[in-house]
Amino acid sequence: MVPSSPREIVLKCFEERYGNAPEYLVRAPGRVNLIGEHTDYNEGYVMPLAIDYAVWIAFSHITEPEVRLHSIDFNQSVVIPINHVLTKSDGWSEYLKGLISIFKKSKLEIFGWKGVMAGNVPIGAGLSSSAALSLAITRVFGTISNWDWNPSQMARICQLAENQWIGVNCGIMDQMISALGQEEHLLLIDCRSLKTTPVPLPEGVRVVILDTGTRRGLVDSAYNERRDQCESVATFLGKKALRDVSYKQLKKAKVKIDPIQFKRALHVVQENNRVLDCAESLRLGNLKHVGELMNSSHISLRDYFEVSCEALDLMVESALAVPGCYGARMTGAGFGGCAVALVETKYTENFVKKVLKSYQNATGQKALLYVCKAAEGTSVYSKKEFAAQ
Ligand code: GLA
Repeated sequence: MVPSSPREIVLKCFEERYGNAPEYLVRAPGRVNLIGEHTDYNEGYVMPLAIDYAVWIAFSHITEPEVRLHSIDFNQSVVIPINHVLTKSDGWSEYLKGLISIFKKSKLEIFGWKGVMAGNVPIGAGLSSSAALSLAITRVFGTISNWDWNPSQMARICQLAENQWIGVNCGIMDQMISALGQEEHLLLIDCRSLKTTPVPLPEGVRVVILDTGTRRGLVDSAYNERRDQCESVATFLGKKALRDVSYKQLKKAKVKIDPIQFKRALHVVQENNRVLDCAESLRLGNLKHVGELMNSSHISLRDYFEVSCEALDLMVESALAVPGCYGARMTGAGFGGCAVALVETKYTENFVKKVLKSYQNATGQKALLYVCKAAEGTSVYSKKEFAAQ
């Protein structure tokens, strides 16, 4: 039988390479953010869900102080010593090196392991394939080295590796949701306190990811610039972060703020309010209002934060034209990648068909649509557990 999922693939490949079954299996999911974009590094609110697309690693202890990891997707094996000073280069194994260096800085004891990795989170699409990779590797180290698993602390460590080794000044959202996602729930995350509140996905709706097929480079993009602009406004207003600035305070200071920086801050301040409003509306089952908030979020990201692009705008337009779609917006950092829509379950099939067609007619490009399930965060399974699944 041909193995079909990354889970089966890593288990089979591990046995072929090493002649026995792995001791453990780790799964770390990607994510899609329903609302709360570019608010995390402003210490504000976000509301993503972990998705049923993930990175899987099958692994076992070794006695040598090194990591031997084979990536099926990149068809490449690496051996990384864990007691040497590591130097930067490029490629997927930088995440492994970056994490090892942060573990050591954080005084976390680490031991060696061998593993096989595969995943199905689309890369560079804004669905956090890199956070999934980082959380998967961290969970492997945590299991091998007997750490107490503290998901928020581990999310912070993964964020640090991304900031300090990879050079992307990202916030904490992606790592938090990959670590802490809950089945059938969104997670309202306070990115200052790291408090998480599960919000059930109401019955009768589906979250649909709309991949434009366009890709962006986060390091090369204007992401870090946007972050600097936000921080400048907070500093100018004498606040720790834009989280502490109200709409009224911002409006009052408008004439004194650079117009571009004002637009960036306006997006963040209003987006934080939209996230809280959205969580409450989901609890009340007011899906019409949830949809309106998603639509406003998109317009704000397009016009104030200026991180959308033609493909994302066309995708959102295509989605909103189909019956049963409550709302749609770009999701993730922007500049390409994916949009997200909230769709009434009974219309989902028709929605997918119609959007694929209208997006292709408008752009000449093929879109990819995923009707997703809210999945559990990063998990580890012992041999006994995964053999029984
Ligand atoms: C990327 C970053 C996150 C967040 C989003 C935008 O996904 O990794 O930290 O800033 O962009 O909301």
